[in-house]
Amino acid sequence: MPVVPMKELLDRALADRYGVPAFNIVNDLSIEAVLAAAVEEHSPVILQTSVKTVRMYGRAQLFDIVGTLVRDVAVPVTLHLDHCPDRSVISDCLAGGWNSVLFDAHELDVAENLRQTTEVVAEARARGAHVEGEIEGIQGVEDGIGSDAASVVQTLEVAVDFIRRTGVDCFAPAIGNAHGQYTSAPVLDHQRVSDLVEATGVPMALHGGTGLSAEQFQDLIARGCAKVNISTALKQVFLQSSLEFLRDAEARGKWDPPSFFTHQRSAVMGMAVEHMRTFGSSGRAW
Ligand code: 13P
Repeated sequence: MPVVPMKELLDRALADRYGVPAFNIVNDLSIEAVLAAAVEEHSPVILQTSVKTVRMYGRAQLFDIVGTLVRDVAVPVTLHLDHCPDRSVISDCLAGGWNSVLFDAHELDVAENLRQTTEVVAEARARGAHVEGEIEGIQGVEDGIGSDAASVVQTLEVAVDFIRRTGVDCFAPAIGNAHGQYTSAPVLDHQRVSDLVEATGVPMALHGGTGLSAEQFQDLIARGCAKVNISTALKQVFLQSSLEFLRDAEARGKWDPPSFFTHQRSAVMGMAVEHMRTFGSSGRAW
């Protein structure tokens, strides 16, 4: 299985200033389509699961599905748990083979977040896994987690201290980004990414990828966002392509599930390929 540690994937991307796409997969078809895109583009890729998806399948079943689909894939892949405030789900996924977790404790005060994230880092290390840390909420609700309220942004000193003392492998800063579709043009604090990377050498995770322009992605990647999260775009392309197919099936009175799956797969693949090219990860598999 070409599964590689998250840190290796991100450290290479940070050194060469490209972004590894982290797609929030929702089922077997979306996993397979994202992997097919990575193979076609010769790109490393992160398969990301929300807590909701883990709960929907059950951790063991989801891991088995990923394992089966990844087995013969010849590009580097890593399996990551997205925003998770629940320590028991973190422990369960680490024990169950996830390569990396985002312990999202931004609702705790920074001191308690730091204390608990340090414990999660130790737990992950014991299993050869890695940790993304977060001290500020990313605006927008995703799969039932988060809030639509704008987050309090911590100072650079607080963020740098958190990264250094916890030993997280990746950090998710709030820089004016938001989950879901942007309702107005985002005003991004690019400099914060540069400052954090310069002070710590740790790669940043860019959340709220859906709706950013190619120029915004490329600027933030050049500043050190080595992990770029895409969720809403996958969900939309998956369901909109499904709707389009079903409307046509109804009009023609033809109901053929395999053609339906092929149509969905090609829509998800196209979306993934486009992001890999924009992020500069195409051709970067090793
Ligand atoms: P979007 O839903 O805006 O693509 O954000 C994805 C994300 O950041 C997942 O954590």
